[in-house]
Amino acid sequence: MDETTEGSFQIIGGNFGNAGEASMQLKSKLTELGVNEAIIRRAAIATFEAEMNVIIYAAAGRLHYYINRDKITIKIDDMGPGIENIELAMQEGYSTAPDWVREMGWGAGMGLPNMKKNSDEFRIDSVVGEGTTIEIVINLS
Ligand SMILES: Nc1ncnc2c1ncn2[C@@H]1O[C@H](COP(=O)(O)OP(=O)(O)O)[C@@H](O)[C@H]1O
Ligand SMILES: [Mg+2]
Repeated sequence: MDETTEGSFQIIGGNFGNAGEASMQLKSKLTELGVNEAIIRRAAIATFEAEMNVIIYAAAGRLHYYINRDKITIKIDDMGPGIENIELAMQEGYSTAPDWVREMGWGAGMGLPNMKKNSDEFRIDSVVGEGTTIEIVINLS
């Protein structure tokens, strides 16, 4: 794995029918590259939560991944409402998900904390009225 493998996926807000598609694609890429299963699991969990947040809260977004010998870097950026108070949003159990989303089984307020927990490096940046950017790094060695 000397070169960087990269790819990107479009994520459409509100498209619950396609939920999990981007994280599934990344998962198969990592499997193809022979990445350790525990690491694949962490990447899949973090990516899935980020993807769900774009589907639930934003109009549209994009997931971009880069894989090299040392690490997996995943960037998710969206065009959405942004997050006013990131510190609050990062707290376990905090959620503004509407009732109809909760009825689908989402909105436990564990997405952002779980992204962080499964990352070696985690960055979140948000501009209210513009969107949110998340960067997740998972070390391979
Ligand atoms: N991409 C995003 N755009 C706008 N708001 C977001 C985004 N991701 C998270 N949030 C805000 O942060 C809160 C916490 O997110 P999360 O931990 O994933 O829990 P949940 O999605 O279950 O509410 C959300 O309820 C929402 O208010
Ligand atoms: Mg979430």
